[in-house]
Amino acid sequence: MSAGEPPPRDQVIALARRHVWPPYTSPERHEQVEPLVIAEAEGAWLVDLDGRRYLDGNASWWTATLGHRHPRLVRALADQAARLDHVAAGGTTHPQVARLAAELCAVAPAGLTRVHFTDDGSTAVEVALKIAFQYWQQNGRAARRRFLALSSAYHGDTLGAASLTGGGEFFAVFGPMLFDVIVAPPTDAHDDDDAAWTAFGDRLEALIAARADELAGVVVEPLVQGAAGMRMYPPALLARLREATRRADTLLIADEVFTGYGRTGAMWACDLAGVTPDLLCTAKGFTAGLLPMAATLATERLYDGFRAAPGGATVAGASRALMHGHSFCGHPLGAAVAREVLAIYRDDDVVAGVAPRAAKIAAAMADLARLPGVRRTRALGIVGAADLGDGGYHGGAGARVYAEALARGLYARPLGDTVYVCPPLNIPLPDLDLLLAAFGEAVAAVAA
Ligand SMILES: Cc1ncc(COP(=O)(O)O)c(C=O)c1O
Repeated sequence: MSAGEPPPRDQVIALARRHVWPPYTSPERHEQVEPLVIAEAEGAWLVDLDGRRYLDGNASWWTATLGHRHPRLVRALADQAARLDHVAAGGTTHPQVARLAAELCAVAPAGLTRVHFTDDGSTAVEVALKIAFQYWQQNGRAARRRFLALSSAYHGDTLGAASLTGGGEFFAVFGPMLFDVIVAPPTDAHDDDDAAWTAFGDRLEALIAARADELAGVVVEPLVQGAAGMRMYPPALLARLREATRRADTLLIADEVFTGYGRTGAMWACDLAGVTPDLLCTAKGFTAGLLPMAATLATERLYDGFRAAPGGATVAGASRALMHGHSFCGHPLGAAVAREVLAIYRDDDVVAGVAPRAAKIAAAMADLARLPGVRRTRALGIVGAADLGDGGYHGGAGARVYAEALARGLYARPLGDTVYVCPPLNIPLPDLDLLLAAFGEAVAAVAA
């Protein structure tokens, strides 16, 4: 740096402000609020350009399930890059993607046997919607064109996935572009209020039965609605939804983009309810944050629905093929990393390792529940959350906790007035203790 030049951090911020259009950030905010400038990351830690260290309290938007720069993943990526970078998925396959599909099906809820690879969580959901829709269109139930979603759902930012929010507040501006979804009535059931959950389940069952003829599928985030503020519901409700969709012969689509890969303490949240959905979407932990890649898993019944109609010409059967594909379907680098993720899960028993961490997180949330400014807390697996204030998504208490946490070396972005932790699944226990201490102090600074 020559004399008079601004320090590297200020240079980066100036360039970002001049040329980057960041997500969910107004130009005014972009110009006035200083971002962290993260230069490195390792394990559960982010390191800024000045060498300050922050615990990554949300595993970088819920992706870095194995921590940052896991040496095995970095090696798998480099090895694959030295062999095959990319090849079009049209008319080709390659060893990584074929093996990954088999390995993924082996750990998926029994009965999911087919994998379509894409880029991110939103597109994994788009593909599930398209499979469900096209399946009914070409298998004699063309009136099944609609989807039912839970209220406060979040399934991604692309237009199909965004439609599943029912045009809620978050995407209100795009309302005219979104398709019409049946949104389940909201519930104020909480925690182990069994009677309230049962009543809610009754209403959902009745809705599914009443709309069976028009329903292409029911889409849910199993057990935890992440973006809604880590809202949790009991496994029994998910099991009831499976039964109700089975009775109505419509499809259950499990969006495990957030919940999958051990986040809830089981490989899939569906496992906790003993449920196999008809379609399952996975992303984020799928590549443990190294690369954008995702997958939609389906049953053999659905796959068979894309074969040529009986008596139809087999090759012309392509006209019944799934009409969806991307430049990077089954990307070799992503596939190599995703295979190594599964290998680490096997070798290190990553999912079993969630239990001791979950116990610490649950205890910390129970402590926070005693603070006067905390309305409610909850925990499941590696996720712990606390609701403060009444401001919902646009409340100010969460932002104050964020600032307090940063001052204590913890990066913990809130969801409005819900503050939460969701660190890497394999966070070392001493790091988790530091994280929970910083989080507890930050919440207490605002809510005591
Ligand atoms: C449940 C769920 N589905 C889908 C998505 C969208 O994933 P992506 O941001 O990778 O497109 C998210 C993102 O947070 C999510 O939580």
